[in-house]
Amino acid sequence: MSLSPDLRLDFPALDQLVGGKPLVYLDNGATTHKPRSVITAMSRFYERDNSNVHRGLHALSMRATDGFEGARARAARFINAAHAAEIVFTRGTTESVNLVAHSWGNANLRAGDVILTTEMEHHSNLVPWQELARRTGATLRYVPVIGSDGEHGLDLDALERLLTPQVKLFAFTHLSNTLGVLNDAAALCAKARAVGALTLIDAAQSIGHEPIDVQALGCDFLAFSGHKMAGPTGIGVLYGKRALLDAMPPYQTGGGMVVSVTYEGATWKPSPERFEAGTPNIADAIGLSAAFDYLDALGRPAISAHDHALAQHACTALSELPGIRVLGPKSGQPRGGLVSFAFAEAHAHDVVTFADQDGIALRGGHHCNQPLMRKFGLPSTTRASFYVYNTEAEIELLVKSMRRILKFFAG
Ligand code: ALA
Repeated sequence: MSLSPDLRLDFPALDQLVGGKPLVYLDNGATTHKPRSVITAMSRFYERDNSNVHRGLHALSMRATDGFEGARARAARFINAAHAAEIVFTRGTTESVNLVAHSWGNANLRAGDVILTTEMEHHSNLVPWQELARRTGATLRYVPVIGSDGEHGLDLDALERLLTPQVKLFAFTHLSNTLGVLNDAAALCAKARAVGALTLIDAAQSIGHEPIDVQALGCDFLAFSGHKMAGPTGIGVLYGKRALLDAMPPYQTGGGMVVSVTYEGATWKPSPERFEAGTPNIADAIGLSAAFDYLDALGRPAISAHDHALAQHACTALSELPGIRVLGPKSGQPRGGLVSFAFAEAHAHDVVTFADQDGIALRGGHHCNQPLMRKFGLPSTTRASFYVYNTEAEIELLVKSMRRILKFFAG
């Protein structure tokens, strides 16, 4: 089943002109637009049910609690977690990774241990591990990316060598936000498990695009953000296996996560409350739940096929333009729903500014991937990232705009 172009009508933000041209929004890797059902779910909460959760005995508080805990159960169903208690609400992927690094990492790592990650990580799945290594004396190692433009993805032979019994955690991205490489997450988790290492998957770029089943993947932790999957900003999820979460100390402390408090100390609730100190982000959790419903109604295999097809089209067309270097898998090779590319003669910020004149929203920069950019000798790239509402006609407009820019910089 393919996606209907009519679904564009579900997204009010798409219906606008930018600089007099119809908006072509290709910055979905940064954040996606929200369907009306998500916006309505959030405004309905504020208009009717607004109240605090887990505390009140009045009708509004009970409705708010039902909505919030219903969103947790919905998140568990979306990723096939075994239990709702395995879903911790956070601000997003970055906070989810930091939670694991601080809570699990501080308690479990010491000198001699190894944290393994990869060279294609977003800073949010890299800097927290650098800091954890600094705090604990553990060593941080990277699985290399191979090919002069990262076209061959992760070096799996190097991974075999790096996966020693000293590795306590392997943290890797499912879909690279810079290369478009879609890693075989289940295979990577199995390899890590074979040496006794835990796994954390950064699913920020894949959650809204690829079917995700944490039990089939076999991961221990999985982190994602709502806003990259048609949901609101400021809400995300840390999935963790229940026994692991229950054995981890709190990340933040305060109200809502304690069983008993005396002037001398406190005891903690089990997960997920243990990790949700203070009033949670109720309205955004409810909006996120509506986003899960929206994506499941479209069908995640159909979303994945749609995004992959657009990325293939863009990759092929851009690779044919002289003066443009496409990163990541070559045309025809599997890639997730984004393409990043560099102009020989123009800085990505200029490219994005020119494209904006054509009504096209792109991202230009290092994509929070500075070490990888340095490895490729690039200051920045331009990235086009696709979602359910993008069309083949928009890819043609992108290519036309890029041709115009090439001509301009060629003088
Ligand atoms: N992590 C987001 C991106 O890749 C912001 O654009």
